[in-house]
Amino acid sequence: MSDIVAEGRKITRDYIIPGGMFGKPRTVQALKGIDFSVERGKTLALVGESGCGKSTLARIITMIDPQTSGELKLGGHVVDIARHRPTAEMRRRVQIVFQNPYGSLNPRQKVGDVLTEPLQLNTDLSASDRRDKAHDMLKKVGLGPEHYERYPHMFSGGQRQRIAIARALILNPSLLVLDEPVSALDLSVQAQILNLLADLQDELQLTYIFVSHDLSVVRYICDEIMVMYFGEVVERGTRDEVFTDPKHDYTKTLFAATPRADVDHIRARLAAKQARLAAGG
Ligand SMILES: Nc1ncnc2c1ncn2[C@@H]1O[C@H](COP(=O)(O)OP(=O)(O)OP(=O)(O)O)[C@@H](O)[C@H]1O
Ligand SMILES: [Mg+2]
Repeated sequence: MSDIVAEGRKITRDYIIPGGMFGKPRTVQALKGIDFSVERGKTLALVGESGCGKSTLARIITMIDPQTSGELKLGGHVVDIARHRPTAEMRRRVQIVFQNPYGSLNPRQKVGDVLTEPLQLNTDLSASDRRDKAHDMLKKVGLGPEHYERYPHMFSGGQRQRIAIARALILNPSLLVLDEPVSALDLSVQAQILNLLADLQDELQLTYIFVSHDLSVVRYICDEIMVMYFGEVVERGTRDEVFTDPKHDYTKTLFAATPRADVDHIRARLAAKQARLAAGG
């Protein structure tokens, strides 16, 4: 039985741009009727070039901004934050990690406090239990007890992203929305963070919505891909479908923008796998 963690039907989002002193206000249709769904334990990738509406959709799914119209369901519950304030429990279940961990971490807050604060606000745990939980979480993301008392500026970019992931996971969410989580990192560090995310997904049965403009990043981690273009979905399918046989011209353009070697490598690997299966091995 499928277990849908998040789904949207005909989600739209308009932004009204003020027109200046005499001009008329203008409407930007950032999302023009998006359908999506993601099953428990799976990763849905949202890809597309800058301005296509990826972050707008990510902010709607994480209840930061309301949709203009359309139906959003999280864990089977209809969510419309413009009409009803989501419960604390609803908010706990859906967390987000942004591209720039430096911008999203308070520079004056020690890592220990970053992790224990949500526990203090949302649980009845004692101070020592909160501390233990924060230490466990640091370990899960590949950091250690020595990092507990440090401030964000004392970490590398990759370590800061580990802290942001730890903070997002501290309340045991079911859905993690990752908005370009590795785009600001060096390639080798990107791979480490992607591996960490894959391990955490298995260990904690997490569902991911992974936003990226970079197809070579999502190919590591996603099950399904949704390609967006100017606020619309122009292609969707499983990873293998989209990588082996991109249908839409725009998706082909996206592939052309990622290093060729990567695509050739994946095609060769998939072809070898299919040949093995065909040979019954
Ligand atoms: N707060 C806002 N007010 C007005 N327009 C906005 C606002 N936020 C986004 N937009 C517009 O909505 C469209 C989609 O923006 P969005 O940030 O969702 O794109 P994106 O796919 O995340 O791009 P990027 O890859 O650059 O992060 C763009 O045209 C953008 O200019
Ligand atoms: Mg964005």
